[in-house]
Amino acid sequence: MSRLYLLKRRFQRKLPESLQRKFQEAIYFALYRLSPARHQNFFNSGFSPADETLSNLSPFDQEPLQATLYDQVLWSLTRDAEKREWNDILDIGCGLGGGMQVAARRFPDARITGVDVNGSAVSVCRKRLQVFPNLTVKQASARELPFADASFDMIFSVGTASYVGMPAFVAEAARVLRPGGTLSFSLGYTDKAFANQIRVANALARENGLRVQQIVDITKNVFAAIAEDVPRRLALIDRVPGPFRGYALDWADMPGTMRYQEYVEGRRLDYAVVCERI
Ligand SMILES: C[S@@+](CC[C@H](N)C(=O)[O-])C[C@H]1O[C@@H](n2cnc3c(N)ncnc32)[C@H](O)[C@@H]1O
Repeated sequence: MSRLYLLKRRFQRKLPESLQRKFQEAIYFALYRLSPARHQNFFNSGFSPADETLSNLSPFDQEPLQATLYDQVLWSLTRDAEKREWNDILDIGCGLGGGMQVAARRFPDARITGVDVNGSAVSVCRKRLQVFPNLTVKQASARELPFADASFDMIFSVGTASYVGMPAFVAEAARVLRPGGTLSFSLGYTDKAFANQIRVANALARENGLRVQQIVDITKNVFAAIAEDVPRRLALIDRVPGPFRGYALDWADMPGTMRYQEYVEGRRLDYAVVCERI
């Protein structure tokens, strides 16, 4: 690990949580603009084992583990949702739009909207998805969604809530969710106990008129996906411009990075939350 990179990590951890999030957002701007990863469909850690159908279906066959994480959040974990005939679906932090395509496969008749704060991601995503008439992308922050109250039947999100901060993320998602609608999202933290995160999620749900249906620890599946994906990711990172390589390694959680070590030491937690709007 480079000294510069270690210094950056140490400096970043001294910042208050809100500034750490802003710092991470800025890194995403650079990654989406400069990195070869912008040619991908997803920007998440993945979930193993990969879904067999997605592994054989273009464009998901390029990143089957990442598509599978989305499919878990959208489909596998929402099986108990009371009503799953969703007409209006929102992806918060849609990135390059891969998750919206997974949603279009599961719910072909739904209107699917994606929002991301990152203009570079939004313009790539918009160009890529213009062939799908029912998919729309907007540049906006999850902290201030540009939608009226109760606009969506289903809101899903992969890997964005931890950047936004759980309280703001849940409050704003709950506002734009219709009564009876479902909010399903995944996120990850370091040095936070699962039992405590269950309490946090339940408290936030209560405050915002939601009922938690399930909270699932998916750390093992995410770490297995990262380990399985090392060769593909290293090949991509080789093409990232020098100054950003450390960040790319960090984002990709490669062996040798602090994040990978956090997984090895059991300090990293990934989990998914499914709630219903009361
Ligand atoms: C880990 S990436 C996940 C991208 C996508 N969900 C995927 O799985 O491929 C996190 C995403 O959250 C977006 N993001 C970060 N802060 C945000 C905010 N305040 N509002 C909306 N999107 C945000 C980033 O631009 C980035 O696209």
